[in-house]
This record gives sequence, structure tokens and C-alpha cells, in this order.
Amino acid sequence: MRISRLVTAAALAAVALWSLNLPAAADPDGATAEGADRAVPVDQSLRTLATRHNVRVGTAVDMSAFTNDTQYRERIATEFSAVTAENVMKWQLLEPERGVFNWGPADQLVESARQNHQLVHGHTLLWHNQNPTWLTDGVASGEITPDELRAILRQHIFDVVTHFKGKVWHWDVVNEVIDDSANLRNTFWLANLGPGYIADAFRWAHEADPTVTLYLNDYNVEGINAKSDAYYALVQQLLADGVPVRGFGAQGHLDVRFGNYTAFQVAENLNRFADLGLETSLTEVDVRMNLPPDATKLNAQTQAYGALLLGCLVAKHCVMFTVWGYTDKYSWVPGFFTGQGAANLLTETFEPKFAYREVQAILAYSR
Ligand code: XIL
Repeated sequence: MRISRLVTAAALAAVALWSLNLPAAADPDGATAEGADRAVPVDQSLRTLATRHNVRVGTAVDMSAFTNDTQYRERIATEFSAVTAENVMKWQLLEPERGVFNWGPADQLVESARQNHQLVHGHTLLWHNQNPTWLTDGVASGEITPDELRAILRQHIFDVVTHFKGKVWHWDVVNEVIDDSANLRNTFWLANLGPGYIADAFRWAHEADPTVTLYLNDYNVEGINAKSDAYYALVQQLLADGVPVRGFGAQGHLDVRFGNYTAFQVAENLNRFADLGLETSLTEVDVRMNLPPDATKLNAQTQAYGALLLGCLVAKHCVMFTVWGYTDKYSWVPGFFTGQGAANLLTETFEPKFAYREVQAILAYSR
């Protein structure tokens, strides 16, 4: 009989242990008769659970929802230890007229972060989207010459970084400057200023605030691929030229149908940037799907969130895991990807999805 054989084996093992006089707790892998010490209750806020890892868990904040929706605002304070302005620190919103700044909403976010002991990830000093029309029209018509454009960029970076000096943890200095073919993105910045604009932007930001950590940030660079290879080469070049680049941000906008990773793949990519001396972050995580959601898609989403988080936790110098909004109620996805949505950790009514429970479980139980 199988059972009696098992019993016999167990009895023999017990006798062997007794005769060697070894306590059961001497197992070199740390197992005890009582089982592992799972002392961390899983049902705590993400920010509380994340303190075990020296990692900040953040969210992008929609400032109009922040102002109008108490539930949305309060949950940010209890759940997260970092915040990113979803829009209000972008050029179009900060400097809608040349030299005229609208600091109000960004200041409100920064002040709320201070009160709630959250760090602020600054997003973003330079991008090819969400620029004010005075800038884009001026460049297109030739009214703004390349020389002027360079001076305008320098001034904008100087004004913004100085304004938030000492209040911001990181700046995304440049956002999405490499395209999906792994070449420098063909934008009005590149066309008018040449490839040196990237180094210039970092140098100017560093001049304005030498203490803030300066990032490159992009999507589709979570694992090793042609695009992240191009960033790796770019960072090596910038460092060789003495440019103060200190951080690499992988956005983490995923789709359950493709672009998903294992934790190992994320960590091996982040680690090569860490080996160059950079810190890394997941800066804009969400995982969209074709609507309506079903169990298969939600499981794939859960796996994707888990892999990005675990990849960050096991990587050498990953300091932040930030989601691009935390409730489907205010997601950017349905407005940008036709027929898609359900990309966030909580539903539109703030109910936790599987992915939220997975993030909690990983934060609670991984070392
Ligand atoms: C998105 C915002 O979520 C939207 O509200 C806005 O209309 C467009 O931009 N990559 C980025 C973010 O770096 O700034 C983008 O945010 C999403 C993609």
C-alpha cells in the first residue's frame, strides 16, 4: 500500500533525525515544521506593503478628477507613495501662452503630495505631443527659427525645473524620443535642433536643479528589444559625453494581446541600465484589453501587472512602480484605443480586480 510505505518512510526519517540529534529547524533553506513565517497581512494598502521593498508605488493623477471626486482623491492618499501629473506638468498645460505659466494645478498636486508624504515624478519637460499651439504653429510657420526654438526650450526647462526645485523627485527630461524602428524619433525637436537637443535638455535641467534625478522615458522598452537596445546605446553615449542622465523609465503601457513579459525579462533589461549606473522605474503601467473584459483577458492582465512589478522588485535599482491611473473610471485608454479599456487595477466603481490582488500579494510575500 502506498500510504503505509509513506508512513514508513516518514518514521524512518524521524528516527534518522532523532539519531543525528538535529532539530527540525536546522533546515538550511529555512523551512520549519510550522511552515514559512507569513507574517505580512496581504490586505493592506499598496504603499504600506511597498515599504518592505524600498520601492515607491505611484499613480498618475488626473487633476480634474482630483478636484471633483472625493473618493478618487482620498484613495490616492491612502494607497500610493508617489504621484505623477497625468497632464498638468506638460508644456501645453504649464505654458499655454509664451512666458505665461499656469502653475496652479501642478502646485496643488505637489502640495497634496507633500501633505501625504508622497514623492513626485515630474512628467515631462520635452515631448512631441501636448505642446502649446504658439510653439508648434510658430515652428511650422517659420516664425520661430531653430535658434529661437533652442532658446525657448532652454528657458522652458529652466523655468519649470526652477519652479519645482526641491519638490520633485525625478524629471522625465525627454519623453519618447526614440521611435518604434529604434531610430531617433522624427519630431520638430530633432528636425530643428539636431540630435544634440537631448544632451542639451539634460544639461539645462541639471543646471537648474543639480539634485533632481533626470530620466529618459518611453514605451515598449520594458524588455530587451531593438528599441531598448537603442536607449542602451544612447545612454552609453550620453554618459560618455558627461551628460547628467541618471534614470531610465519604462512606461509599461501593455495590451493583453501582445507585449507581455516575464519578470525575468523585465529585470534583465532594467539591470543593464542599472549596470550603467542609472536607477530605473516603471512609470506608466496599465494593461488594456478589447472590451468587454472576460476571465481570460483579466487573467492575462493580472499576469502582466505581476510581471512588471516583480521585474522591478527583483531588479538591482528599480525605485518606483507607477500605474497610469488606478481606476477605470478615469483611464485615458478608451479615448485613445478604440474599443479598448479596463486597463487599471480597480474597476470604474473602485472594486479591486484580480490584478490589484496580485500586486498586493507580490508586495506582501516577495522578499
Ligand atoms: C496621456 C494622458 O493620459 C491623456 O490624458 C492625454 O490626453 C494624452 O497623454 N505616454 C505618456 C503620457 O508619456 O504622457 C500619456 O498620457 C500616455 C502615453
